[in-house]
Amino acid sequence: MRLPQHLMESIQVEVEKIEWRRLVQANAQLSERYKAGDFSTPAVANDAQRAAYLAVRFPATYAANQRVFSEIKLRAPHAQIASLLDLGAGPGTALFAASEVFSTLQHGTLIEADDHWLALGKNLAAKSPLPAVRQSQWLKHDLRSGFSCDTHDLVVISYVLGELAPAAAEAVIRKAWACAQQFLVIMEPGTPRGFAAINAARSALIASAAEVLAPCPHKHTCPMAVAGDWCHFAQRVERTAQHR
Ligand SMILES: C[S@@+](CC[C@H](N)C(=O)[O-])C[C@H]1O[C@@H](n2cnc3c(N)ncnc32)[C@H](O)[C@@H]1O
Repeated sequence: MRLPQHLMESIQVEVEKIEWRRLVQANAQLSERYKAGDFSTPAVANDAQRAAYLAVRFPATYAANQRVFSEIKLRAPHAQIASLLDLGAGPGTALFAASEVFSTLQHGTLIEADDHWLALGKNLAAKSPLPAVRQSQWLKHDLRSGFSCDTHDLVVISYVLGELAPAAAEAVIRKAWACAQQFLVIMEPGTPRGFAAINAARSALIASAAEVLAPCPHKHTCPMAVAGDWCHFAQRVERTAQHR
């Protein structure tokens, strides 16, 4: 998987605003933070860390989003995905990936609590050649205070649950499902902690009468969790020189 050229160029512009030494330091801080798994405060806290996220984490989260959307397209080739709701949008990763996979996408609604991410995401989206991306709506809102939404064909929660307390995460999942016209996609890092968040989300969704497609396409208790084990999916991503 490779990022579209226009997105690589827009990211390059943002990353080059930060001095190299600060960028390397910010990337090390982010890695530490993700390894420690402490998300009691937002993991990405300043402009250097946002640039490091764009250079190093964004390609991987984009690849995960693109892979899941491609699986949807493969399994439901006749599904018409015209609208997207992205909860905890960050730089708009889900919007960029969905617009590449679903040529039918016409509109995105992106909800994000952080002003800096909102500004950065809007700036990247404004440079997209795709009208659906350029015209999407960005809303500042904290998901923990609830949110109202029109139904959207595809609702995405990408690498956000880990930053929410379990009760808040469950409330967001239930609401997200109520807003999903066709599909709800939830992604977390492929770690035991990420698996636990996905498994908890799966239980909440089954209790809300959702049909689960993955990781376990049935309504029974997850056998991996019962065995004290965990699972994840691997996705390859082509790294740019800057990423390396
Ligand atoms: C790790 S980033 C993921 C960004 C993007 N979804 C992606 O996949 O690249 C987590 C994002 O969730 C946002 N976020 C965390 N808690 C939030 C909340 N309570 N309400 C809204 N956004 C939140 C953060 O500001 C950040 O942009």
